[in-house]
Amino acid sequence: MPSKRKTRSNASTAVAANSDSGSGSVRSCSRKSRKKTVVEGPAATAAAEEVALRQQQQTRVVDASVNGNADAANGSDDGEEEYSARFLGDPVLEEEAKRRWPKRYQGKTQTARSRSNSDEDVILQARRHYTQAEVDGMLLFKLYDDAHVKAAEGEDNYICKIVEMFEAVDGTLNFTAQWYYRAKDTVIKNLHNLIDPKRVFFSEIQDDNPLDCLLEKLNIYRLPLNVDLEAKKETIPTCNYYCDTFYQLPYSTFINLPSENKETVSETSSTISSEVDASGRSEVNSQHSEAVHHEENKEPEFSLLDLYCGCGAMSTGLCLGANLSGFNLVTRWAVDKNEHACESLKLNHPETEVRNEGAEDFLSLLKEWEKLCSYFSLIQNPVPHEQYVDLFKAEEDDDAGTDEENDEIEDEEVFEVSEVLAVCYGDPNAKKEEEKEKGLYFKVSWKGYASDADSWEPIKGLSNCKERIKVFVTRGFQSKILPLPGDVDVICGGPPCQGISGFNRFRNKLNPLDDEQNKQLIVYMDIVQYLQPKFSLMENVVDLVKFADGYLGRYALGRLLQMNYQSRMGIMAAGAYGLPQFRLRVFLWGAQPSQKLPQFPLPTHDVIVRGVIPLEFEICTVAYSEGQDVDLQSKLLLEDAISDLPPVANNEHRDEMPYGGPPRTEFQRLIRLSKSEMLGLPTSSKCSESTLYDHRPLKLNDDDYQRVCRIPKKKGGCFRDLPGVRVRPDNKVEWDPAVERQYLESGKPLVPDYAMTFVNGASSKPFARLWWDETVPTVVTRAEPHNQAIMHPEQDRVLTIRENARLQGFPDYYKLCGPIKQRYMQVGNAVAVPVARALGYTLGLAFQGSVTEGPLYNLPDKFPMLRERVSSVSTEENA
Ligand SMILES: C[S@@+](CC[C@H](N)C(=O)[O-])C[C@H]1O[C@@H](n2cnc3c(N)ncnc32)[C@H](O)[C@@H]1O
Repeated sequence: MPSKRKTRSNASTAVAANSDSGSGSVRSCSRKSRKKTVVEGPAATAAAEEVALRQQQQTRVVDASVNGNADAANGSDDGEEEYSARFLGDPVLEEEAKRRWPKRYQGKTQTARSRSNSDEDVILQARRHYTQAEVDGMLLFKLYDDAHVKAAEGEDNYICKIVEMFEAVDGTLNFTAQWYYRAKDTVIKNLHNLIDPKRVFFSEIQDDNPLDCLLEKLNIYRLPLNVDLEAKKETIPTCNYYCDTFYQLPYSTFINLPSENKETVSETSSTISSEVDASGRSEVNSQHSEAVHHEENKEPEFSLLDLYCGCGAMSTGLCLGANLSGFNLVTRWAVDKNEHACESLKLNHPETEVRNEGAEDFLSLLKEWEKLCSYFSLIQNPVPHEQYVDLFKAEEDDDAGTDEENDEIEDEEVFEVSEVLAVCYGDPNAKKEEEKEKGLYFKVSWKGYASDADSWEPIKGLSNCKERIKVFVTRGFQSKILPLPGDVDVICGGPPCQGISGFNRFRNKLNPLDDEQNKQLIVYMDIVQYLQPKFSLMENVVDLVKFADGYLGRYALGRLLQMNYQSRMGIMAAGAYGLPQFRLRVFLWGAQPSQKLPQFPLPTHDVIVRGVIPLEFEICTVAYSEGQDVDLQSKLLLEDAISDLPPVANNEHRDEMPYGGPPRTEFQRLIRLSKSEMLGLPTSSKCSESTLYDHRPLKLNDDDYQRVCRIPKKKGGCFRDLPGVRVRPDNKVEWDPAVERQYLESGKPLVPDYAMTFVNGASSKPFARLWWDETVPTVVTRAEPHNQAIMHPEQDRVLTIRENARLQGFPDYYKLCGPIKQRYMQVGNAVAVPVARALGYTLGLAFQGSVTEGPLYNLPDKFPMLRERVSSVSTEENA
């Protein structure tokens, strides 16, 4: 087993920084007609010194009003009206106040002058607490009231809940604000127009402010996150705002409101943790914990739709992980427009309805399918759809055709549909996407003709085949060849957003969604909106939160919120889950309000998260907090992953071969396990695969092969080691004038110009060998050695498809289809299987209601081998 080590990450620092930015630092300023303190809102940041200075000013004003000596205190003789604030009624009994807000009574003398919300240790000490206050001589505020708080001139006033009212030991009068966020102040920022302006998000951010900042009492209507948006609109009474969601800055989390228990909003028990019992487990969690750990309880089956499925790595991992948690998740449907990727998925998942079509056509098809099911009265509350009523009416009219017409038909050759075989949206016979006629098409077999005469026909040409279509739709409905709204438990997918790729020079920064290449993000969300799955998990490149100030990431979050989903974003490094590959990706959970929002699984391996993540989103990095003492397995190296694979040549053409030897590392032993073994299911002792698939490289052309043969088999070997190349002290390459340029048999230069000029001569990647002790940055889709390190350490070839698949954590049993380049593409496009598996595990726990406190989850010790039953000996025997 890999040794255990400690690790650190920067997550907590990031969290702390952002929490600070969310706190409403106190500031004072004057308004035109009266002096009134204003606060910086929940999303503002302020330098500590600036805050202290302003606090001094603010102290003066409040003291003055409290002492009834305003003019003397503010030194003003301009006749401005002074703002006053005072507590009303008796103070809270001392004993009770100390019980509810113990931190305020610890005896540490603390004046307002030195208080600072950025210093967690400094807590303003209280003399006494109150439950009512009067501001401006007429406004009455009660404890737990919602209120507007004065913001700076020209800004929207802030919104808070008053969760404490107290007189500090220095005599100042204060209230503690727990802030509500408007959408524009959350991570959604400039995409706030996706959200109803009356909708606000309650947060955990609290801070102390002078009592006179309170401006007016608000009526904020609290309601559960309800998926029925229309019903929600109708049920919301007249109010200033409404609130159905709790917002937490870490991991951009939007979650169901905790139950509102005013009495517990105190130092000892805040609203935030009220969902979780003393043991740190949620109520539902304890109810369901038995089911989670009950291995045999595999039923019922839950359904997954994998959109943009590629060869299916994401769904494969999710299902493996979910099953390990006791949640029987199965990929029922998968969609991708690449036929080879679809073929691979089907081969490895015969149980899945794999649809080789564009996601936009898939969505149109789903809508038409629902109408058909409704037309044939297969679903409850069927709505008669004019379109199909009219279409099939033609058949009845035809039956009653005139004799003349019937004679004409008899003269023509008549083809009779024997059976409807399949359905799709858009003409599959069209050569180009633009030429595709819209509408439903059915694949039909013809009476008296063999299957090679089967053809795709538009529905309008089949108006007299109502019965045949009915049979097909009825069967399809029963076997769920297509999902209807509510049928899907989980949707996963990585909508391609090529319009944000750093490689794309023509990116549309102003409105990235206008770029055709980013449209699939909209389509993904539209499918979620239509099918309403219980959960959604979207994956993407980190550019999603980098490009155009994170526009698309904010859009994705905004859409989920708009649809009343809970949501949470995490950035995960594949290497941290047991791979010798770094690969940073963004994941976005969505969960219906009736479900627990899944957590992000914490790393199992000691890999430092690196890569450019915008500061604002660092708070989403899935990692342990800085300084947290954790035992993690050592990071994996290339050798751990591929050293057991037999040597192959540049021109290897076999798709299958024997392993030729036993696994040499724990990683190799696990990756060779069969599917059942990975799930810890009972297996025969000879179950593990003995055939190695896809262990063949993209064949280098003769020129490149000759170049590669000249690259030394050593760490760092690359084109820089070839004759004629010299490395300058600034680590850039130049031609060595003392060496004559060498040429290959073809007449092409041994060292091509593009290698010398790549990254202005600063790169050592062209024709670079990987080395055994390295971690690969990211497995990509193209196996070209011209600008990336992809050469085997000791063989004269690029890494094989299988070697790349190992770096992505594909189990060895996963076989790929299509031409070689297509197989590399499927592997390079994939979500690393161990990452998806870890996410599947937390998804399974959430589904079973078993969620611990906070956004992160600590995977069990031996994950993923929780239920391993086979011995390594039986695996080795098979090698
Ligand atoms: C990043 S890959 C997905 C990888 C997959 N999630 C996995 O883990 O194996 C994106 C996929 O989207 C597919 N794709 C691109 N545009 C599409 C569209 N309009 N409709 C359906 N699939 C599309 C591509 O063929 C590609 O397989």
